[in-house]
Amino acid sequence: MSGTTPPQASARNPLRDPADKRMPRIAGPCAMVIFGVTGDLARKKLMPAIYDLAHRGLLSPSFALVGFARRDWADEDFAQVVRDAVAQHSRTPFEQQVWDRLAEGFRFVSGNFDDDASYARLAETLHGLDATRGTGGNHAFYLSIPPASFPLVCEKLSSSGLAAQDKPGCWSRVVIEKPFGHDLASAESLNSVVNDVFPESSVFRIDHYLGKETVQNLLALRFANELFEPVWNSNYVDHVQITMAEDIGLGGRAGYYDGIGAARDVIQNHLMQLMALTAMEEPVSFSPRALQMEKIKVLSATQLIEPLSENTARGQYAAGWQGGTPVVGLLDEQGFSPTSTSETYAAIACEINTRRWAGVPFYLRTGKRLGRRVTEIALVFKRPPHMPFDAAMSTDIGQNALVIRVQPEEGITLRFASKVPGHLMEVRDVNMDFSYGTAFAEESPEAYERLILDVLLGEPSLFPVNKEVELSWRILDPALENWAREDADGGRPQPYPAGGWGPESADEMLARTGRQWRRP
Ligand code: BG6
Repeated sequence: MSGTTPPQASARNPLRDPADKRMPRIAGPCAMVIFGVTGDLARKKLMPAIYDLAHRGLLSPSFALVGFARRDWADEDFAQVVRDAVAQHSRTPFEQQVWDRLAEGFRFVSGNFDDDASYARLAETLHGLDATRGTGGNHAFYLSIPPASFPLVCEKLSSSGLAAQDKPGCWSRVVIEKPFGHDLASAESLNSVVNDVFPESSVFRIDHYLGKETVQNLLALRFANELFEPVWNSNYVDHVQITMAEDIGLGGRAGYYDGIGAARDVIQNHLMQLMALTAMEEPVSFSPRALQMEKIKVLSATQLIEPLSENTARGQYAAGWQGGTPVVGLLDEQGFSPTSTSETYAAIACEINTRRWAGVPFYLRTGKRLGRRVTEIALVFKRPPHMPFDAAMSTDIGQNALVIRVQPEEGITLRFASKVPGHLMEVRDVNMDFSYGTAFAEESPEAYERLILDVLLGEPSLFPVNKEVELSWRILDPALENWAREDADGGRPQPYPAGGWGPESADEMLARTGRQWRRP
């Protein structure tokens, strides 16, 4: 098996092809270069994921990892950094033999993003690896760097010949981390700069939520079963709530987050993707193109519900308590401007103008310093048209709900009404749970393992394309513009206590239509 298949040729149906399901493909010979190798993402996610892939036997024995940064490191110093990262963050146990083989392919290139000589050294290193380790001229460039540097690095990769797409039998791909622009216009211009160097089929944009097992299970749940499809529409679904709540604060992340805020950080990418997968029609196959087409159709049909002042909410955490300890508010977090208007909580309401979803609001919310860490997609169903039970006996029943628990406690919950044991016909809500942890013996791989492997295999299904990114900005931009206008008039995000469930305006937003947020 080889991983050198070009993206276009990998039109397979992973749900239908049993060989694929049982035996993951192994990446062919290649090298991955990480720009921004000294950053948090590289240490906490990328390096551990590479070791885990090697441990699972999914990398070619000739795989090479090249670090590129300003530090004056030798290859051995770099290897030690990777070794520490693996020790702290890898999922699979440390095995000397796996490590030794992997570490033989580590190289470090000391250089600056704007310096031609640095790229010449990088090219020399990669050609050396092609010749001695057998990386076959296949190179993935992982840009784990601030977006402002994307254009420069892409341009230098191009002028040094490293981005060339015309070498027979070889590939050159770029991997880009978010944020991809800060609105539609900036995303479009970034897309065009990157695509001047790398054609769209060689650009792999990371949205790590798409690498999560539970997110992929959404496709299995919807399209490998008969049970859910008939009720997956506006005839039965009252509304959908997509929640990504975090209990952590933003200490130490001011450089990235101040000026960005929750909606740009999370809603534009992770939550819009979850919405698209929840709402899309069945793709004609699971080929990357067919999947993308369905997501694009949904996003094209989506817009924010007006008026925005009533159907969006934003907040900023104030001091409060978390896990029994007092914590400071955002404005007192180190590095944040004391007048920052960056929202740490955002909620929006979308409508999807299709036959399937017209009239069903999709509520998307995210926040830091909330009650607990939980990501879920909840389809909340309409109430029965008639309730033949004595009102006093059925006071405890709410609406049926199907909840996809993305994390933690990955699984699915079905909430429905049941009779309470006893002589009376008393009815109450109960939950039926499916849990990954107990249903399967295998542990789920980390999202980054799956995504890095897919980059090396040239398998683009789990990477949003330009159009998806742009459409997501098109949906979100009116809310951002509205908040900017409010700020200009002296407005600001509503404070909410750390450890709670967000600002009152978010509760009011749902209460206006007689709904309420789930308290996961
Ligand atoms: C990132 C956001 O994309 O996702 C962070 O930038 C957030 O702000 C993180 O904390 C959450 O990821 P996960 O996988 O822990 O839910």
